Amino acid sequence: MTTPSPSKNRHLSRKASLFTESVIREMTREALKYGAVNLSQGFPDFSAPEDIKRKAMEAIDRDVNQYAITWGSKDFRDAIARKTQSYLGIEIDPETEITVTCGSTEGMIAAMMATVDPGEEVIVFEPFYENYAPDAILSDAHPRYVSLRAPDWHFDRDELRATFNQKTKAIIVCNPNNPTGKVFTRDEMEFIAGLCQEYDALCFTDEIYEHILYPRAGAEINHISMAQLDGMRERTVVVNSMSKTYSVTGWRVGYCIAPPQITGAIRKVHDFLTVGAAAPLQAAGAYALSLPQEYYDRLQQEYQARRDLLVPVLEQAGFRTFVPDGAYYIMTDISSFGFENDVEFTRHLIREVGVACVPGSSFYSNPAAGAQQVRFCFCKKDETLNRAAERFEKLQKRL
Ligand SMILES: Cc1ncc(COP(=O)(O)O)c(C=O)c1O
Repeated sequence: MTTPSPSKNRHLSRKASLFTESVIREMTREALKYGAVNLSQGFPDFSAPEDIKRKAMEAIDRDVNQYAITWGSKDFRDAIARKTQSYLGIEIDPETEITVTCGSTEGMIAAMMATVDPGEEVIVFEPFYENYAPDAILSDAHPRYVSLRAPDWHFDRDELRATFNQKTKAIIVCNPNNPTGKVFTRDEMEFIAGLCQEYDALCFTDEIYEHILYPRAGAEINHISMAQLDGMRERTVVVNSMSKTYSVTGWRVGYCIAPPQITGAIRKVHDFLTVGAAAPLQAAGAYALSLPQEYYDRLQQEYQARRDLLVPVLEQAGFRTFVPDGAYYIMTDISSFGFENDVEFTRHLIREVGVACVPGSSFYSNPAAGAQQVRFCFCKKDETLNRAAERFEKLQKRL
């Protein structure tokens, strides 16, 4: 007997049949199965900072073990407000403008479910972080894609303008960008902001890599939050998280910053999705978000060193790299290897070479657009990156 396809199974929802499980997370399982060096899913294999871990343990010891306030413990929200003021220069009211969520993953979907009605359009730059497509389906949004074009991942302003229309509810801007490593310039951000205002649209900004930037001479590599721009504070939901900045992706603590009315709606959705994020980890978050600037400077330097280790390794192995200005991924072009597509290449790389990456097609609405691209992450120990370098010696071209 054949298993009915999900769309025909009356026990499954139409929405759930419209997307697959995460390819990124699947690659981690494949890496474990075949003993590959895992440069696929973006999580560090080095320790989280000792002092932050200690604060979490102390909180459990102090019996911070029951539900926190649904939208976040007061000390954590206060710390978020202070840090946002000092880093972005934005004053936010922790009582009415912050919702603490289970990672930015929940923050994004809660924000979309709180604001988007069926049939309304949400603009997404592609290649995109793969969650955004299921987020759109689950929140009944109709996604409209606008290309970021290699090698510098710029967008065509006419294409973006033509995509905005009366049905546009929002645009998602992931800045610094996963998977491309693009850091949007002020000019680009202002252009997007202008369209949001012209069409009365919202902006969801995913800023979880806000501290992972690689300045270079002659380029403007600064983190600009959409909420900082004139006229945008009232129409922006900033989605952020402890995951990447403090190397605690498994803690699942994130947050949304939005004007009070939108925050009220996000809090309701969040309450019934998850009730709240882990209370003792929010206590540690209050400490983490109060760390001095030196913490962020060191984070940036360490990531820059890792990027500068992996880029030449990939080039040497035959990849064409798109060197990132931010975040901790390197998109590459694999056309010189002669594989039919990215999935076949990735399978070969995991099983025969022993290095895991993410097939580029998982970042595009049209898989063919990413068929000659794969993404590597470099949030790993030097020894892990060096082990990958040794294994790449086995990688042969198929021409
Ligand atoms: C752009 C982007 N947003 C969100 C997430 C998920 O973050 P969190 O752990 O806060 O849910 C990731 C994880 O890789 C990401 O790259």
